[in-house]
Amino acid sequence: MENSAFARVKAACFSLSTLLGAMTCAAFPLDSDAQQPQKAVPMELAQPAAATPWSRYSDWPATDWKDYNTLANLASPAYAPPPKLAGPIAGDPKNGEKLAFDRGRGGSCVACHVMGKTTPALPGNIGPDLSTVGTWGRSDQKLFDYVYDPRSVNPNSMMPPWGAHKLFSVQEIHDIVAFMKTLKAPHVFKDELENPATRPVPVETRDNLDPFENDGMAAIDRAKLVYSRVGSQGKSCASCHAAPEKSFRTWAATMPRYEARLKKVIGVEEFITRHARSTTGDNLLMQSMDNIDLSIYLRHLANGTPIKVDTTSKDAVAAIKRGNALMTRKIGQLNFACLDCHGLANKWVRGQWLAQPKRQAVFNKEIAHFPTFRTSSSEIWDFSKRVQWCNVAIRANELPPDAVEYGDIELALAALTQGQKVNVPGIRN
Ligand code: HEC
Ligand code: HEC
Ligand code: HEC
Repeated sequence: MENSAFARVKAACFSLSTLLGAMTCAAFPLDSDAQQPQKAVPMELAQPAAATPWSRYSDWPATDWKDYNTLANLASPAYAPPPKLAGPIAGDPKNGEKLAFDRGRGGSCVACHVMGKTTPALPGNIGPDLSTVGTWGRSDQKLFDYVYDPRSVNPNSMMPPWGAHKLFSVQEIHDIVAFMKTLKAPHVFKDELENPATRPVPVETRDNLDPFENDGMAAIDRAKLVYSRVGSQGKSCASCHAAPEKSFRTWAATMPRYEARLKKVIGVEEFITRHARSTTGDNLLMQSMDNIDLSIYLRHLANGTPIKVDTTSKDAVAAIKRGNALMTRKIGQLNFACLDCHGLANKWVRGQWLAQPKRQAVFNKEIAHFPTFRTSSSEIWDFSKRVQWCNVAIRANELPPDAVEYGDIELALAALTQGQKVNVPGIRN
């Protein structure tokens, strides 16, 4: 197939050249890679591309959430109806209040609800304002059921199943219900910032390409040293690619892509690890500093190029489909799907308060800026580290950076952001 297309191009060029002279033929893209049968890019294919066994960052929570779903396996307990109450709730409202506001216990109810006059600073409004829930005529059993496992009322609820997933004991939920029953007066917000309905949406205004604003820019100078560093095989990247500004002007915008030899999607970072192993001999593991620096460099070279990943080949289509499905999977002790928080899911989150969902982040321009510098931790995160954190934050075990699932999700997101311009390094809080 490829060869005959090549032959046709050659023939066309030949006839054109006889008519119009040699110049036309030279302008014809005869020598471009696109016209030739694809050369296999050298890549080491057998080893994992990340530290193995993968172990979580020591400054991240250390809990093993093995009893709950991850993006790679299903482990969460099947839904079961909440236990029946023996009689009216007789909990301790003071303790219930403390638990409801405790950020250490699953992020606290006020991440999503306003809860009366003692509501701590900056509550969220993903769920309804519960400041008057005590006057709504809900039975004790109904309130208990909602908190124990909201799926008892709304199978698609994005509220965590606090009891079923053992975030709170049955007694603690009694206390929380007792507290809710005391909530009878609308909450008066002290200012527009406190009120989640009027709080201004944060806007990122810093210039991500200004080295004085974005420490991530320093990665480019570091990467140039790595790029020209001779590895164990006596070669550097520069030995084979002397003019990266030219050769890689658009390359990163085509990543991630399905790699048939690995039977998985790889992004720039995994490419770097595998390509370096087979060319320079360096072992630039994913999420190592050299790897991320080179990734920034290669992506930076493609800045301004519209993302143009393969979304049409059979393998790409299948990977995108898997990635999209994974983003609807409920994972972790908190039982969230990516799309619960990242929008796009209006259809299947049915609670009436979500008709106009207030989501924390929407998948839009979200990957064109990776790797990105995070000012809150002074670290550069590549895509896989960002997703790892979005796993751990909802109490789901993260996967290694080279996980098949992360590749599928990265391609699915790149497909959604197709056409947006690469803009690296990013800067985020
Ligand atoms: C991630 C967001 C989130 C968190 C955290 C959360 N909720 Fe909810 N909650 C919701 C949403 C959304 C609804 C609306 C209905 C639905 O989708 O199930 C809801 C509904 C409720 C209801 C039902 C109100 C009614 O109409 O009867 C109660 C009660 C409730 N939440 C209590 C709590 C308590 C107590 C906590 C903390 C232990 C909590 N919620 C934490 C999102 C959340
Ligand atoms: C021994 C020679 C050699 C070395 C050293 C080498 N490469 Fe390559 N590289 C190749 C060949 C061959 C290809 C495939 C043909 C091409 O695109 O030129 C390639 C392709 C690439 C591509 C394009 C991949 C694609 O999907 O088309 C990138 C990006 C790249 N190399 C980056 C690097 C970086 C970064 C380093 C250093 C870690 C490096 N190369 C080291 C030989 C080398
Ligand atoms: C509990 C809510 C929540 C869940 C669930 C969640 N995320 Fe996030 N995610 C966030 C928040 C908050 C941010 C930071 C917002 C920002 O920087 O724009 C974020 C940021 C991101 C970003 C970077 C956005 C950017 O512009 O920098 C990506 C990519 C991402 N998440 C992917 C995922 C994937 C994939 C999943 C599912 C495995 C997931 N998230 C699950 C809350 C969540």
